[in-house]
Amino acid sequence: MSQSEKSEATTSALWGGRFGEATDAFVQRFTASQQFDRLLAPQDIRGSLAHARMLAAQDILSAGELTEIEAGLATIAEEIDQGRFDWRVDREDVHMNIEARLTEIIGETGKKLHTGRSRNDQVATDIRLWLRESIDAVTGELTRLQSGIVELAAENTDTVMPGFTHLQVAQPITFGHHLLAWNEMLERDFGRLQDCRDRLNQCPLGAAALAGTTFNIDREQTAAALGFTQPTRNSLDSVSDRDFAIEFAAAAALTATHLSRMAEELVIWTSAQFQFVTIPDRFCTGSSIMPQKKNPDVPELVRGKTGRINGHLMALLTLMKAQPLAYNKDNQEDKEPLFDCVTTLYDCLRAFADMVPALKPNRAAMVNAALEGFATATDLADYLVRRGLPFRDAHEVVGRAVAHCVDHDCRLEDLSLPTLQEFHGSIDSDVFEVLTLEGSVAARNHPGGTSPLQVKAAAAAARERLTARQADPR
Ligand code: ARG
Repeated sequence: MSQSEKSEATTSALWGGRFGEATDAFVQRFTASQQFDRLLAPQDIRGSLAHARMLAAQDILSAGELTEIEAGLATIAEEIDQGRFDWRVDREDVHMNIEARLTEIIGETGKKLHTGRSRNDQVATDIRLWLRESIDAVTGELTRLQSGIVELAAENTDTVMPGFTHLQVAQPITFGHHLLAWNEMLERDFGRLQDCRDRLNQCPLGAAALAGTTFNIDREQTAAALGFTQPTRNSLDSVSDRDFAIEFAAAAALTATHLSRMAEELVIWTSAQFQFVTIPDRFCTGSSIMPQKKNPDVPELVRGKTGRINGHLMALLTLMKAQPLAYNKDNQEDKEPLFDCVTTLYDCLRAFADMVPALKPNRAAMVNAALEGFATATDLADYLVRRGLPFRDAHEVVGRAVAHCVDHDCRLEDLSLPTLQEFHGSIDSDVFEVLTLEGSVAARNHPGGTSPLQVKAAAAAARERLTARQADPR
């Protein structure tokens, strides 16, 4: 460490009373969080206002002191907003930067704000407030994406495409049905995010450092003022656990995982070999060397960002592991992963919400692909079952017919009736309806099935659930 770094260090810290020498300048930088937790300034100021108002209501602060504090915090909010606030590393974090500045502006009264609280309950409150707002922003984009998916599904209830297992053509499905599968994944993600929001929505203020406070505080008042459903129940737990951040990261990781699956399909579908959909140019980029290239960057990047969100989940889990009660400085490390988790997930959802409604399905390419690969082989087997064959025998018969077609480079529906009858005598001329793609999808006509009728109803029901959601935001 250089001499100048040493002399930079000061004893100006708000906790400086018991210290005999200045903090080492590197340690000061190492332990500081103001460079990233300043993001919490709006929540910190709201929390301080609620706390000060409660102190005044309880006669712990005078009305005049409250007015001074309110004015001082308003000035600080403005300074921060306009980028004029002097963030200082020697003031460690967002909480002490704001408190010290308050005392600079309003004098002695500023020093009374911290009565009956600690940075430990303060930061636990700030992050909850921030995450609650962040979840609302994230679920807003999630809802927008789901709406786009459901509308595209409603336009494609009878667009036939191959359904895949093992990425091999399996059975014909409708594009609308495929899209509504995406919607189901996202709907569960929405539920998980709302559950997380509900669980975190309790107010830690009053827990103070860990054991509560000797002042006659009113925890119901601060909780209500900040929009929490109730105060937390245990002071030790309030200041120490970051399970809500982990829970959010887990929900985010699953959401990102679902987005990555959609992304992967879009990458496959836009390839020259598939050409199932076109992504408008504004969501793609080109290559600096290959003039013909149009790359599906947005889906690829969304797919890639899943790794980043999974990483944050691991970071948060590992950070929390084996921490003894109550607060430990380790918890300062919760912020960067959590912040980035929110930004990354929000951006991915936003990109998809913008892009998905603009996707152009290529119906001819989808149908052609479904015509290859014997997609209606199961329909033929089911047909034979209806004619009295046990399914396992029907499977065998159709397997032989498929092998014959592979040898003769043709499709099942190209075989003549007499040829088909060589595989099984019960086959009749009505078999050809069963072998069409339209017949195949229409036949799967039960709730959860791929028939156009069912998909139309499923899209309408999904749309209704989304409308109800938007009419009843938390
Ligand atoms: N910057 C700290 C954090 O983010 C605030 C709480 C610090 N409390 C303490 N006693 N050092 O966790």
